Amino acid sequence: MNRRVVFLFLFAAFFLACNRTTTKMSIKKEPFGTVEGEPIDLYTLKNVNGMTVKIMNYGAIVQSILVPDRKGNFEDVVLGFDYLEGYVKDHSYFGAIVGRYGNRIAKGKFTLDGVEYTLATNNGENHLHGGNKGFDKVVWDAKAVKRKDAVGVKLHYLSKDGEEGYPGNLDVTVTYTLNNENELKIEYRATTDKPTPVNLTNHSYFNLSGNCKRDILEHRLWINADYFTPVDAGLIPTGELWSVKGTPMDFTKPTAIGKRINDDYEQLKFGHGYDHNWVLNEVDGSLKLQVSLFDPGSGRLMEIYTEEPGLQFYSGNFLDGSIIGKGGVAYKYRYGLCLEPQHFPDSPNHPDFPNTILRPGETYHTVSVYRFFVK
Ligand code: BGC
Repeated sequence: MNRRVVFLFLFAAFFLACNRTTTKMSIKKEPFGTVEGEPIDLYTLKNVNGMTVKIMNYGAIVQSILVPDRKGNFEDVVLGFDYLEGYVKDHSYFGAIVGRYGNRIAKGKFTLDGVEYTLATNNGENHLHGGNKGFDKVVWDAKAVKRKDAVGVKLHYLSKDGEEGYPGNLDVTVTYTLNNENELKIEYRATTDKPTPVNLTNHSYFNLSGNCKRDILEHRLWINADYFTPVDAGLIPTGELWSVKGTPMDFTKPTAIGKRINDDYEQLKFGHGYDHNWVLNEVDGSLKLQVSLFDPGSGRLMEIYTEEPGLQFYSGNFLDGSIIGKGGVAYKYRYGLCLEPQHFPDSPNHPDFPNTILRPGETYHTVSVYRFFVK
């Protein structure tokens, strides 16, 4: 009898110990191929709830985010590719860190301290997301991060003076961490040896239906913004701030993206849908809940907390089914959307917009957090 009790006790202790190890946070590094002879690794971060995020050191790309729906099914909520070659060939910025200047700079030109600079133009006559070879197309150094409350990857890249036309050596660090609150945090830091514009963000395409089952038009979007920056036909801000009130740009209450996307509104014509910067309310440099996205079909809800003053919301208007992504799925029209916390587009040419110029001796530092729930 005593031996039976001891046995049962040992069995229970063993079971609990095993369970604890299986529910610990983990980080795994695997080879993912090479780019121009440089090894690329894929890091898999997993928290105690089973939420899993994969990140690679090519483009500092988020390759997948697995989160449960309301029935507990874990599925991928970001677009991308199963293999490295997909990312190398494609120019849609799936999951990548975009920079040195995320978003557009008109005609690739700006004047700083009296000197005119000319950047690579890769979007018609404009500069977009860092140029021909932006931060999404370079190999970063990577290091696993293990903390008591989070696992992550710290990525580092030195963008050389003159790269894509930008002045100054820019030393950039991006740290992704996943915690047990189902929060994926992105912390950006940069320093420079010459004044330069900097605007970094993550370019993940979300589709909360899971594994890209349907378009994103049913997703309910909330943006804490009373104003947006209207654009011209080349998607360059005019410099004005317009009220969202009474327009299809009003997401101050959660609203289905498809509800007004085809309205007869000139700004939507310019963007072929939504492709604009919203001016976030109550920005004071601290981390604030500014955006949420809910998919009623799956019950998945994502919240974005950011310190940034703007949000580029792009409704996947240039996806046309020609890209075959993860699991052989064709990424059709509006099957993914980007929510990019950042400074406003073309800020170097708009002195009234929040400053994007980093100077020697200063540190660029900004944080955004993506939190996942079910409802
Ligand atoms: C821009 C779109 C652009 C897309 C490229 C977005 O951030 O706002 O205009 O087509 O990036 O994937």
